[in-house]
Amino acid sequence: MAMRPEWLDDGAVILRGHATAHAARMIAEIRRIACLAPFRRMTTPGGGVMSVAMTCCGARGWCSDARGYRYVAVDPRTGQPWPAMPETWRGLAITAARAAGYDGFEPDSCLINGYRPGARMGLHQDRDERSDAPVVSVSFGLPAIFQWGGVRRTDPLRRIPLLHGDVVIWGGASRYVFHGIAPLRAGAHAVTGSCRYNLTFRRTL
Ligand code: SIN
Ligand code: FE2
Repeated sequence: MAMRPEWLDDGAVILRGHATAHAARMIAEIRRIACLAPFRRMTTPGGGVMSVAMTCCGARGWCSDARGYRYVAVDPRTGQPWPAMPETWRGLAITAARAAGYDGFEPDSCLINGYRPGARMGLHQDRDERSDAPVVSVSFGLPAIFQWGGVRRTDPLRRIPLLHGDVVIWGGASRYVFHGIAPLRAGAHAVTGSCRYNLTFRRTL
């Protein structure tokens, strides 16, 4: 599909529908990864439990617990290395980053988020990576409202609908912009049912 980048912010673009043609295969792969590294709701350092269920693939995976947020090479739940990142996923992330103006992106981690109705992700910056390479985000299933702010937590938020197959890339001046996901509205999606998946590709080192 031809890619017409939609400007989001300085250094941030949306490629509408860029992953749609790959959705069925990628969702099957998510389910395969989740057999090896199950979706789990992680504990935050503050003692809460996240409403989003997460798993990871790639050389490192993100985790949160009472000790804080970090990337680890072994899944703390299984004691095994995270499942490998499918080569086609890596290729899609690299192509999307390039279309957004970021050549040479080499993701070493993919965080897979599973949202059920009501699940949300509070406003945050992605800052657990040591690299300032961009983040590439791929959405499947139920639509969500992506809250996009600024580099200060108090900056005004825009509400951007993200639909099945949409890809967002943020780097450069947008790399540390605060963002989040509003509580997911209930619905039935033809491919994922009552669920939204989001994959974020990152360079952690
Ligand atoms: C994230 O901010 O890491 C994920 C956002 C999303 O689920 O779209
Ligand atoms: Fe994030």
